[in-house]
Amino acid sequence: MYPKKPPMGFNTWNTFAQNISDEMIRETADAMVEKGLLKAGYEYLVIDDCWSERQRDPETGRIVPDPVKFPNGMKAVSDYVHSKGLKFGMYSCAGTRTCADFPGSYDHEFLDAKTFAEYGADFLKYDFCYTPMTIEGPLLYRRISMALRNCGRDILLSACNWGRDSVHDWIRSTGAGMYRSTGDIFDNFVSFRDIFVSQIDNFKFSAPGCFNDIDMLTVGMRNRGNVAASGCTDLEYRTEFALWCMFGCPLMLGCDLRNIDDTMLSLVTNPYLLRINQDEDARTPFAVRRSEDNLQNIYVRLLSNNEVAIMFVNLGEKKNDHMWFMLEEIGFTSSSGKGLQLTNAFTGKDEGVIRDYLRQPIDAHDCAVFIGKEVDVK
Ligand code: GLA
Repeated sequence: MYPKKPPMGFNTWNTFAQNISDEMIRETADAMVEKGLLKAGYEYLVIDDCWSERQRDPETGRIVPDPVKFPNGMKAVSDYVHSKGLKFGMYSCAGTRTCADFPGSYDHEFLDAKTFAEYGADFLKYDFCYTPMTIEGPLLYRRISMALRNCGRDILLSACNWGRDSVHDWIRSTGAGMYRSTGDIFDNFVSFRDIFVSQIDNFKFSAPGCFNDIDMLTVGMRNRGNVAASGCTDLEYRTEFALWCMFGCPLMLGCDLRNIDDTMLSLVTNPYLLRINQDEDARTPFAVRRSEDNLQNIYVRLLSNNEVAIMFVNLGEKKNDHMWFMLEEIGFTSSSGKGLQLTNAFTGKDEGVIRDYLRQPIDAHDCAVFIGKEVDVK
């Protein structure tokens, strides 16, 4: 499957890990519809690791869903997810075992792809643990990709090799629709900061067809669940979500959607941030200001319809009162007669027209995001 926009959805790993079940998936599907998440674009409901029995069926060679967690089998779960208008995602691994030590798909790629197609899967996250030394990573992804192309169902391949082997150089050629470029996220500021900063120079490899995936969001987790690690403040969750949106990353939610609070729900359904993330032109932002440590930068991203997105972000530890750029630096010369009509992406407030520069003081860990409409200023 060739995604034209960054895929959006939910994945079980961040909160639930092995604590997944038929019931919890159905409740999550209900929540995604009732809370307006599907309407906002979150369409994939993905079951991560720990869904199967420890061994394959010795007779058929197939992976078997855990009968305690999924007593009705996977097709029933998938049917329920589809009945809600959502898409269904599964998980496997390029090695002999998954990262949590369940059967992996190595040397069973075509059989497993067939099994996932029979479940009605629309998405497959494909991990990289326990891979054999004798075969190179790109070939492992080509194998599962070929298996999915030939399984009779349109299934998005979500590669997850954590950025190994300069993955950005070759992953698009395998047929994957998104690719994890970093190690696992944890629910704190330092984790998402370092993950983001590590990819600043690699977002240019992200484009329609194959998007750089910097991991499932921890937004709204509030330090509960599998990757809990002291949690983030509301302001930090806002910065995390805004970065993922600005850089066109897949938006896979990882908190417990059944009890997401109103502040976090309105953040992840913010129409301005989602409009930036899902912009059909899918252009890479450029930096108009870059600090030496890359922590206090200003980014601009050209959007469709003569709009631009602007982000001031301060991932440092001190307030910065001197973040500014000139419109000259985005290409509006002083003789252009052009300026930007700004809308604040967090509040939706019209912030007026700027014609020469924009300056914003930004607190530590905070950011400001605007959508600017290109307008005449004469
Ligand atoms: C790896 C992946 C995670 C998750 C776990 C499951 O660590 O990077 O996202 O899928 O495996 O075991």
